[in-house]
Amino acid sequence: MKILILGAKGSLGQTFVDLYSAGGGSAFGGKDTNVTAWDREELDITKENLVSEQIEKIKPHLVINCAAYNSVDKAEEERGVAEMINGTAVGFIAKACDAVGATMVHYSTGQVFDGTNSEGYNEDDKPIPVNAYGRSKLLGEMELQENIDNFYLIRTCWLYGKPAAGKKSFTDLILELAAQGTTVNAVNNEFGSPTYVLDLAHATRALIGQQKPFGIYHLINSGVASRYDWTKEIFMTKGIKSEFNSVASNFFQRKAKRPKYEVLNNTKFIELRSWTEALKEYLS
Ligand SMILES: NC(=O)c1ccc[n+]([C@@H]2O[C@H](COP(=O)([O-])OP(=O)(O)OC[C@H]3O[C@@H](n4cnc5c(N)ncnc54)[C@H](OP(=O)(O)O)[C@@H]3O)[C@@H](O)[C@H]2O)c1
Repeated sequence: MKILILGAKGSLGQTFVDLYSAGGGSAFGGKDTNVTAWDREELDITKENLVSEQIEKIKPHLVINCAAYNSVDKAEEERGVAEMINGTAVGFIAKACDAVGATMVHYSTGQVFDGTNSEGYNEDDKPIPVNAYGRSKLLGEMELQENIDNFYLIRTCWLYGKPAAGKKSFTDLILELAAQGTTVNAVNNEFGSPTYVLDLAHATRALIGQQKPFGIYHLINSGVASRYDWTKEIFMTKGIKSEFNSVASNFFQRKAKRPKYEVLNNTKFIELRSWTEALKEYLS
């Protein structure tokens, strides 16, 4: 079983590399797993010819695309770059996977929805993004579905876990601010599900291993929180005594509009453990 992981130096990418390299068996339950881990230096996914050549060369059975442009505010000014990495390039990978008969796993976000539904969004709800990042991720969803049938499109939310170089998850940022003695202001009126990349990687591997039907899935730690709730849980778990403030979203000047409810309903696969339990494990 040959597995190719793209965006392998990112938070989720590194987690997959560790998971599959630890001898955990192949995605389909066999014993021999051969992992190829590439990031931008090894394969820039925006180069169509390189993508098709390299995938044709190694002929993987499974490609897990963790490469992405995730700067939500910067995407408002760099729409073209975001659309290329999150959108058009997903089509390049999908075409190349289809040509060699590989299954493709790709990740998207709750930010493809408009965030007006407090009940959360099901897998087949109609995406209506409200910012450039969401539109670029929706383009990727469309490119994927147009270019390959054997795909798992996994939407997820508010990731944290293994740190990627030069980037900080919300959990790590809060810990850093608290350690510096900087006052934390946390937004209380936007909602999502903080999700541990390790849980997401395990759930993805289970989804593939169980040979679930191809299509769209929502994989998130269960439960809903605001960033204020998330901060409170971090402070409580770590026994941090300093004050932190509950603020509304307009406290911060942000270029991109955020959906109020980035809440994803997982109606098709086993429920993941609660976000508080997962966070406790990460912080321990
Ligand atoms: N992080 C979240 O809160 C969140 C929420 C919902 C969905 N998701 C989705 O979940 C997936 C994994 O996210 P993540 O947080 O693990 O991402 P990440 O840590 O930002 O990692 C993305 C990786 O992709 C690489 N990359 C960017 N452009 C590339 C290119 N042109 N060619 C090859 N590699 C490239 C990045 O390299 P550079 O660092 O050099 O750019 C980085 O190593 C993504 O699809 C993301 O959109 C994330």
